[in-house]
Amino acid sequence: MIVDPGAISAVRFAHLMNSVIVPRPIAFVTTVNAGGRVNAAPFSWFCGLATGPPLLGISISPRDGGPKDTLRNVRETREFVVNVVTEAMAAQIVKASGDWPDDVDELALVGLTAVPSGLVRPPRVAESPVNLECRLDREIALGESCFVVGEILRAHVRDEVLTEGRVDVTKLKPLARLGGERYTGLGQVLGLPRPKVERPPGSG
Ligand SMILES: Cc1cc2nc3c(=O)[nH]c(=O)nc-3n(C[C@H](O)[C@H](O)[C@H](O)COP(=O)(O)O)c2cc1C
Repeated sequence: MIVDPGAISAVRFAHLMNSVIVPRPIAFVTTVNAGGRVNAAPFSWFCGLATGPPLLGISISPRDGGPKDTLRNVRETREFVVNVVTEAMAAQIVKASGDWPDDVDELALVGLTAVPSGLVRPPRVAESPVNLECRLDREIALGESCFVVGEILRAHVRDEVLTEGRVDVTKLKPLARLGGERYTGLGQVLGLPRPKVERPPGSG
């Protein structure tokens, strides 16, 4: 089968992308509006972007021709928190993804706990073992979508997910998104050391 984007609807091509760019980590993003009202929603078009400074990115599509609540709040306050999603949080983050009105606090709705952040106004999610406090670095228009780039100002990492001071993915138990309404856990974890190749000094 050959599929050219122009030959099918954008929605169908998005389904194809969602099914083949897998598995995707999920950022459960907490924000507040200028008045301090809390919002939370999951985003899986999400990735790390750079390490110096530490940057991450989230692609937010429009809804009904306008910005989703998360994007509107990020524009208002320039702050957000990425909460890592575990398998145990699956049902709650999916429920939070409903098109709830903007006066609904999705954390309260789904029974997750807001705790204060250290450097930004949006709260962290207590049930999430890792929270990344972010400040908006820039916003990049990508067609109809908006790519939000955040600088990580502080990471909160719960001790239970550490082994010898490093995050142990088998303890973290992250949830990942697949195509459609399917999700997965870690499955088999392979440990494969990279080859050590000697390079002459100054070779780049
Ligand atoms: C697991 C999961 C991942 C999602 N990823 C994205 C995404 O990357 N970008 C996006 O625009 N919407 C994504 N959505 C849909 C949003 O969560 C949904 O539109 C939500 O209502 C937005 O909430 P808000 O209006 O409070 O920002 C995802 C939904 C789920 C369940």
